Formats: sequence, structure tokens, C-alpha cells
Amino acid sequence: MTRIAVFISGRGSNLQALIDARARGDLAGDIGVVVSSRTGAPGLERARKAGLHHCVVEPADHASREAFDAELDRVAKQTGCGLICLAGFMRILTPGFAQAWRDRILNIHPALLPAFPGTDCHRRVLDSGVMITGCTVHFVRPQVDAGPIIAQAAVPVLPGDDEKSLADRVLVAEHRIYPLALDLVLQGRVRVIEERVVVDAPVRSDDMLVNPAP
Ligand code: GAR
Repeated sequence: MTRIAVFISGRGSNLQALIDARARGDLAGDIGVVVSSRTGAPGLERARKAGLHHCVVEPADHASREAFDAELDRVAKQTGCGLICLAGFMRILTPGFAQAWRDRILNIHPALLPAFPGTDCHRRVLDSGVMITGCTVHFVRPQVDAGPIIAQAAVPVLPGDDEKSLADRVLVAEHRIYPLALDLVLQGRVRVIEERVVVDAPVRSDDMLVNPAP
């Protein structure tokens, strides 16, 4: 069974969604290690409570980005992990690392990529006036928040939303699609062909999300 390394930097609610999916039997893999780039990240406590192997790898303890990534690589391999999930991991991986783990690193981003990559995306979503946003699970490439898209969920922007209310609504969708996308990858039902994902899974084509409602 594939072991997964989950990289976090903070709260770890997406990590929790993966832990819960595993506990329900909805994940065809095991979490082999949780790595935090920050000491005291609340997500580490979630890992501890779930009885998962966890550790801190801090950028400040490494002379270069390459050395930091080499340590991440070492920890993932030492714990027998064949797949990496970025879950609120606020470090940009080096091109060398992204290439070495090509199609074996997943990331979740709280917007409908390729729209609104980068940080503060909810602020920019609100400023732009779009009425639908969402979240994206994708394979990682050297470019930030880019790479073949595995799953997306759409979420309406509602009148009166602020960054927090929008982020909270998107987060509910994140917790649904990250375990789903990861499980499809673990089951070998996701292929990357010419930088697009082909998923061997049922899709719904009879639905449309309209906002405001007609
Ligand atoms: C999530 O909203 C995740 O999509 C986002 O950080 C949050 C982490 O929350 N990631 C990014 O913005 C990466 N570009 P969590 O620690 O509770 O999972």
C-alpha cells in the first residue's frame, strides 16, 4: 500500500480531512509521515493525536532551498513514502525537487486554477467581482500553483462575503475534494497525458452551478 508524506505549515485542516478519510476506509494508502515547515504548527498536534509519525523541517535550519528540499526528500524516502501531499505547505519547492517527484506531488489551492494562483487569492477573488470560485487539486510543477488538474469544486461568492466567510466556504469544499483526488491517484485511476489529467471515474454532466440562482 502506498505511503503518503503530508507537508504542512499551519492549521492542518486538510491534513485532518486526509486522516479522517483514511479512518473511514476511503483512502487506498497510508499516511507515512507528516512534515511541518514550522515548529508549533497546529497540524502537528493533529498528526500526534492520530498516532502518525511527524517531524519539523525548518527552512532556517538549512543553508539553501536545495538543502531544505534535500531534507524533505530524505524524510519522505526514509519513511517509505511514494507520494507527497502539500496541505497548506507555504514553501515553494525547487524545480529539482518538483522534477524528481513529478506526478507524485499533489497540492490543494483555494481557487479555481489557473485563475487566482498565489497567496491572498480570496482577497483577489472578492476584488475581481467573480461570482464563482472554488478549489483545485493538482499535480505540482516547478511553476507556483500550476500543473495538471485532478479535481475541482465550485463555490459561490455570496453578497456580503469577506475573506474569512469565503475562505471558510471554500475550505469545506477542499476537505471534500482532497481525499477524493488523492484516493483516485492511489487507486491508479489518474493518468497524465500531455500535461492533462485523464481520470478513470464517473463524472456528472447533468449539473450546472449558477450564481445568482435563476
Ligand atoms: C488551505 O486553504 C489551502 O488550500 C491553502 O492553505 C490553506 C491551508 O489550510 N493553500 C494554499 O494557499 C497554497 N497555495 P489547512 O492548513 O487548514 O489545510
